[in-house]
Amino acid sequence: MNAVSPARGGRLIVVSNRVALPRQTATGGLASAMRSALQERGGLWFGWSGKIANQTAGTLRYQQDGPVRYATMDLSRSDHDHFYDGYANRTLWPLLHYRPDLVDYNRGHLDGYLRVNRLFAERLAELIEPDDVIWINDYHLIPLAAMLRQRHIRNRIGFFLHTPLPADGLLITLPRHRELLGTLASYDLIGLHTARDQRSLEDYFVHELGASLRRGHRLRYGDRRFRAGVFPIGIDTQQVAQDAKQADSLEEIAQLRASLDGRVLIIGVDRLDYSKGLPQRFEAYARLLERAPEMHRKVSFLQIAPPSRGTVPEYRQIRRELERSAGHINGTYAAPDWAPIRYVNNSFPHSLLSGYYRHAKVGLVTPMRDGMNLVAKEYVASQDPDDPGVLVLSRFAGAAQELSQALLVNPADTEEVADALEQALSMPLAERRRRWRSMMDVLEKQDITAWRQSFLGALTD
Ligand code: F6P
Repeated sequence: MNAVSPARGGRLIVVSNRVALPRQTATGGLASAMRSALQERGGLWFGWSGKIANQTAGTLRYQQDGPVRYATMDLSRSDHDHFYDGYANRTLWPLLHYRPDLVDYNRGHLDGYLRVNRLFAERLAELIEPDDVIWINDYHLIPLAAMLRQRHIRNRIGFFLHTPLPADGLLITLPRHRELLGTLASYDLIGLHTARDQRSLEDYFVHELGASLRRGHRLRYGDRRFRAGVFPIGIDTQQVAQDAKQADSLEEIAQLRASLDGRVLIIGVDRLDYSKGLPQRFEAYARLLERAPEMHRKVSFLQIAPPSRGTVPEYRQIRRELERSAGHINGTYAAPDWAPIRYVNNSFPHSLLSGYYRHAKVGLVTPMRDGMNLVAKEYVASQDPDDPGVLVLSRFAGAAQELSQALLVNPADTEEVADALEQALSMPLAERRRRWRSMMDVLEKQDITAWRQSFLGALTD
């Protein structure tokens, strides 16, 4: 514990529910972004171990990997069910992704969520030194700063929300929203991906909580002053481009190429989640096949969708729905030597994925809502500059704010997505190069290092 203001040079402490432990494949944007931030700067990564134990003992397990120290704890089945499956993923996740119809509110889940956050606060407070800068991530840990402040932690604490933040009219549908969302004021800086998310936060604080908004997105609520900023997360652009080029020599890429037999590849890669718009995407592809018979046998759509949160009923449901839909499309259009859709439920290392992206003439990224969507950025960075593919991107992914040279679509409008697919498949080389260069310029400038530096710069300023 301490009562001293932090200085610029202190350790970085990253806190997130999901921790990408050494030698684990990092899934999702948060884990890969935090891993590279910590590897560059060094520091401590605190969170859940990914393991379920007989009880939540709160004992921390430490590991060291180069400049990064990991402190993780196991959770009991019941805490995990209430905190992660329950409140985080059955209450907050659907709400944050504009799906109030799926919100399952249960007081027991909220109690579990607060219990785990309190335990994190207790253990973390013991590790914090006066100059440390604390960076807490995502919707699992909203009240953590308030709980640390109760333990007299006065360090700079930043929060980054990796999901969208819906408008205040939706946020107020959450039971006891003031008690939860009001705790965001305990942070010094709240980072969001887009100006729309920032507006939602400010509107909520001003109109629902009576906070005052000053210049520079500074908010005052009770005795707390804090700021909301837009920091669109990036990727390690150079690394992805290099991995994609090198992947050309991998056996798996040669196998994919051989299996395509000259057909054009369309690729989608998403966690199996209802926010990703997969049923609508499948339908749009079926629409393309229906109205453009000349495309038959000439295209192949590879959808990679590693299952996630498989104990949550809505996720089991979407999995069943997609199996049916992929089967239906193949049943309708396949020929003995052609399967129009390849639906794969495995996850693959990033280095191999970048090779798949490079080989695909179209990247199809159509979430109904997404905080950022790093697949869109990785697809662009993986392309061959001489012969780049085309990105078809949902307007409702945060990435659309930066990648305006993608073919932007409303994912619910399956005709529009089918139009974009046709346009992408027939786009002249000069136009593909022009669009790609403009998107790549953005990705080179706003890469993962720039993101980390701008967030931490604003937090420690
Ligand atoms: O979108 C927010 C996020 O934290 C991503 O970083 C990641 O893809 C996902 O959610 C993590 O999911 P989980 O930890 O539940 O597997």
